[in-house]
Amino acid sequence: MTMSACLAVVLAAGEGTRMKSSLPKVLHPVGGRPMVDAVIDSARKAGASSLAVVVGAGADRLRAHLHKTAPEAALHEQVQRLGTAHAVLAAEATLAQHTGDVLVLYGDTPLVLPETFQRVRDEIARGADIAVLGFEARDPHGYGRLVVRDGRLTAIVEEKDADAATRAITLCNSGIMAFRAGLLPDLLKAIGNNNAKSEYYLTDAIAVGAERGLRAVVVTGPEDEFAGVNDRIQLSVAEDIFQRRARAAAMAAGVTLIAPETVFFSHDTVLGRDVLVEPNVVFGPGVTVADGVTIRAFSHLEEAKVATGAIIGPYARLRPGADVGPEAHVGNFVEIKNATLGAGAKVNHLTYIGDASVGAKTNIGAGTITCNYDGFFKHKTEIGAGAFIGSHSTLVAPVTIGDGALTAAGSVITDDVPEDAMAFGRARQSVFPARARELRARLAAAKAKK
Ligand code: UD1
Ligand code: CA
Repeated sequence: MTMSACLAVVLAAGEGTRMKSSLPKVLHPVGGRPMVDAVIDSARKAGASSLAVVVGAGADRLRAHLHKTAPEAALHEQVQRLGTAHAVLAAEATLAQHTGDVLVLYGDTPLVLPETFQRVRDEIARGADIAVLGFEARDPHGYGRLVVRDGRLTAIVEEKDADAATRAITLCNSGIMAFRAGLLPDLLKAIGNNNAKSEYYLTDAIAVGAERGLRAVVVTGPEDEFAGVNDRIQLSVAEDIFQRRARAAAMAAGVTLIAPETVFFSHDTVLGRDVLVEPNVVFGPGVTVADGVTIRAFSHLEEAKVATGAIIGPYARLRPGADVGPEAHVGNFVEIKNATLGAGAKVNHLTYIGDASVGAKTNIGAGTITCNYDGFFKHKTEIGAGAFIGSHSTLVAPVTIGDGALTAAGSVITDDVPEDAMAFGRARQSVFPARARELRARLAAAKAKK
């Protein structure tokens, strides 16, 4: 459906008291991303061409965050928290400049899909004056109830203001509404605060509109999408809904999850076809995994890239900047940070590779450590292709190891090793025949005297 310009107004001025947090509520993450960013992202995908966010007084941290993630947004301050209609009115300067329809969203409702926002907008395009997203609530307690007569929405009644008959209605207000161009400022100004909370309710726009002959309709969606977050328990519920969705989407796209309920995704996790994920794996933000990769149990990945056919884990940790080449292996208790592994490279046991590059087919022995940090600066370790790093090598960066070079087990490598050279960086072994037996005899005699 073709759409006119649309302004999304995101309400985020709530204090979030029940979160008991020093972080503003809408910055708490769901799927590894602040809730307000998820709402803005969905609004953009639904075609919102401009954006206003209503923030509370002194919300410096939220403002600073939005400057980074939504620089195009007009920020408006709601000094006193007098209700949702009052909050939308705080964005009056932006509303006045805007000529298209208006979508009102809540910053603490992060799971709404762009298609759903699009559906409310479609109702406006089809001629409704106001469209409200509603849902059938399993437990309607606390929600505004949608009063529908002859297919028209005639009022939204808040729980605290509802009589018994209205409370029995299970069709509830998600809070998301769309308004035809130009209606909002006048409607908002006609809303009073004569109700149980003495607040200016945005929901009263329906009854006020009905008196003016405006037509309001309800669009329904699944309750899961409208889960709002007011406290940490609801935050965990929203996270759970997000994770269930992400798991289903991964499986639908050709990923095998052996125990889906133990695998955790971020909003931007990308997994290719025929990726196999064993139990208890965590994907932090920024992970891309190509086709045919196996991620074995208990691995943790974050801002990392894994190429086709690689095997990660069990118990591997890929930290930011890890870039694992095709068919490479990263085994148990291995940590990779800001490092590239070439095709077919193997780092299989108990190793730290940081600020490094490892060439194709190179084998890194068990217990190898790149010493990348001197307490002040990070230094680089460069290892060529086809090299062999002996077990328990300590590579003191900056250091370069050439193609085909070999370091002896237990070496401390402080100087560059040229191509195809072999480096020993350890003390020579001495053997004293019978010395152990003599030592035991001497010590046993000394103990007997005591
Ligand atoms: C609101 C709706 C209710 C709906 C429910 C869905 C109203 C009057 N009621 O109730 O019908 O079923 O959401 O979750 O709208 N906010 C401000 N400034 C204010 C007040 C609120 O920015 O002065 C923001 C909050 O930060 C929040 C949103 O508006 O993001 C909703 O406010 P909240 O007080 O949580 O409304 P509910 O009582 O949940
Ligand atoms: Ca709420």
